[in-house]
Amino acid sequence: MPQHNTLPVAEPDSAFVDFWNAVLAPKFIRFRHILVDGLSRHSAAVMPALPVRAGDRVLDVGCGFGDTALDLANRVGPQGRVLGVDCCDAFLDCARQIAGAAGTANLDFARHDAELGLGGAEYDFVFARFGTMFFSNPVRGLRSMREALKPGARMAHIVWRRREDNPWLHAPATVVRQFLPAPGEDAQTCGPGPFSMANEIVTGLKMEAAGFTDIHFQRIDAKVLVGRTIREAIDFQLAIGPAGETFREAGALAEQKRPEIEAALTDLFARAETTEEGLWMDSSSWLITARAPDA
Ligand SMILES: C[S@@+](CC[C@H](N)C(=O)[O-])C[C@H]1O[C@@H](n2cnc3c(N)ncnc32)[C@H](O)[C@@H]1O
Repeated sequence: MPQHNTLPVAEPDSAFVDFWNAVLAPKFIRFRHILVDGLSRHSAAVMPALPVRAGDRVLDVGCGFGDTALDLANRVGPQGRVLGVDCCDAFLDCARQIAGAAGTANLDFARHDAELGLGGAEYDFVFARFGTMFFSNPVRGLRSMREALKPGARMAHIVWRRREDNPWLHAPATVVRQFLPAPGEDAQTCGPGPFSMANEIVTGLKMEAAGFTDIHFQRIDAKVLVGRTIREAIDFQLAIGPAGETFREAGALAEQKRPEIEAALTDLFARAETTEEGLWMDSSSWLITARAPDA
């Protein structure tokens, strides 16, 4: 069975990696059911059509809880191999548990900052679902992904489209900003953020600068679960994403304004589509596909 080459030697963690581990990981784990359900609709629409064959070696970048890595491992079968890479220890602990429980033998996980390099020309396919928008230097991260591909091999990554088409994140952020100031220049962040690859032209240029060719964008619209109840939807938004960042950075002022903010968010979520599973809002992503140049 093919093995993965060694990843480049780790450097000290960047501020972004520290932030993912120290601040965001506990929040993501608390709301894992929302994130996994919400994000899965965007990859479920594209997974079956991805150019992955039995026996392929595949890399899943920013693999989080590992559910797409597990899907890919099933796709490549026992002769193939998948490596899920993430910079966050707690996510990888979950991912290893899930893969272990599923008895998946062709799936490995590594704790690594993708921007530092992902190995040279050893993968048949590289994938990322909602991971690349957080690269502190997007061209450097995308270049690592391109360099990891064999000549002519393909990649696909999924990123959020513009804010206006993602009311599930943007509408609560707008509500919170009616009460609190924007995060300052020195705010602690997870990197450029969920909408940093929304612009098709700018992101296409970044992909080109990273050395990709045959770059295509396909729009995917899907409803996402924002919470099982209004209470949970409020807690989720005040913990994660742009609303959560504004709330966290505002510190004591945010706590002082909490009752008014929660009342306004209650009004917002009361208008969301409701099913037995919970509250749903619109979202929109790009499936971006490309390939490494031929040798
Ligand atoms: C929004 S989550 C998506 C997780 C997963 N792909 C999914 O769809 O459920 C973004 C992930 O990217 C990871 N990440 C962010 N920057 C990274 C980097 N430079 N190197 C590796 N992983 C990174 C985070 O730790 C996090 O797990």
